[in-house]
Amino acid sequence: MVPDLVEPVVAWFAREGRPLPWRDPACTPWAILVSEVMLQQTPVARVIGPWTEWVRRWPTPGALAAAPAADVLRAWGRLGYPRRALRLREAGAGIVGSFDGRVPDQEENLRSLPGIGSYTAAAVAAFAYGQRTVVLDTNVRRVLARAVGGDALAAPSPTAGERARAESLLPAVAPDSVRWNVAVMELGALVCRARSPRCDGCPLAGWCAWQAAGRPADSYAPRRRSQAWEGTDRQVRGQIMAALRSADDGAIPRADALAIAPGRLDQALCALESLMADGLAVESDGTVHLPR
Ligand code: ADE
Repeated sequence: MVPDLVEPVVAWFAREGRPLPWRDPACTPWAILVSEVMLQQTPVARVIGPWTEWVRRWPTPGALAAAPAADVLRAWGRLGYPRRALRLREAGAGIVGSFDGRVPDQEENLRSLPGIGSYTAAAVAAFAYGQRTVVLDTNVRRVLARAVGGDALAAPSPTAGERARAESLLPAVAPDSVRWNVAVMELGALVCRARSPRCDGCPLAGWCAWQAAGRPADSYAPRRRSQAWEGTDRQVRGQIMAALRSADDGAIPRADALAIAPGRLDQALCALESLMADGLAVESDGTVHLPR
């Protein structure tokens, strides 16, 4: 039997939770969906600016679906993994085509849209529609791995056991489950951080299994992939995309794209090929441009 950790975490959130713009009760399901896609791989602080601009410019799925791809990619800016921007635009078109322009409230329907996986579908069902569902992002997974499992970090990818554990903790009544989901996510982001946890200020410090075990090291460390950036193909892709976004007409000479990482022509060629394969860049007549 797991002691009741819900109440202390929800009470902590009431005092310490951030008033993030997508947590405003006036936010539309579409604005919440956009925030969740942006937050998939980008920290909160970097998302606030682009998200604010996106929901002002494209307040509905139809508005985004009708926007030129180049505008969408420019507004994505430096959020990273820009395929997400194109998929979000396709999701906008899918919502118009299959759901009458309204963001679906069933997780299964949400998952049928491009770029919406099980995490994002659950987050939209919970935060936009108040449904009772397990929302298991990396922050929540870490809190539960530590507090309940006694591990330093969650496994490299979610396991059935983790899901069952999260299910067993989920409050029975929908509004309580939504408060728990956002509170435990925030605890992971602000207190139960991956690298330097602030256990002194943690509402669960008294009975956290990881704390009680003397905070052992990460047993999965050898199996984790590192996310190096400097010198990677992803970095070169990012440099080419940045040059395209800032060019007046979204176009640069192919030679400039290939000279973007001095001394690394092979990597630039690879990066350009992969950007084109992803539909993020188009080549014609010796220039490279954003898709139109
Ligand atoms: N609030 C709701 N969803 C969130 C998320 N994915 N990250 C941070 N805060 C959130």
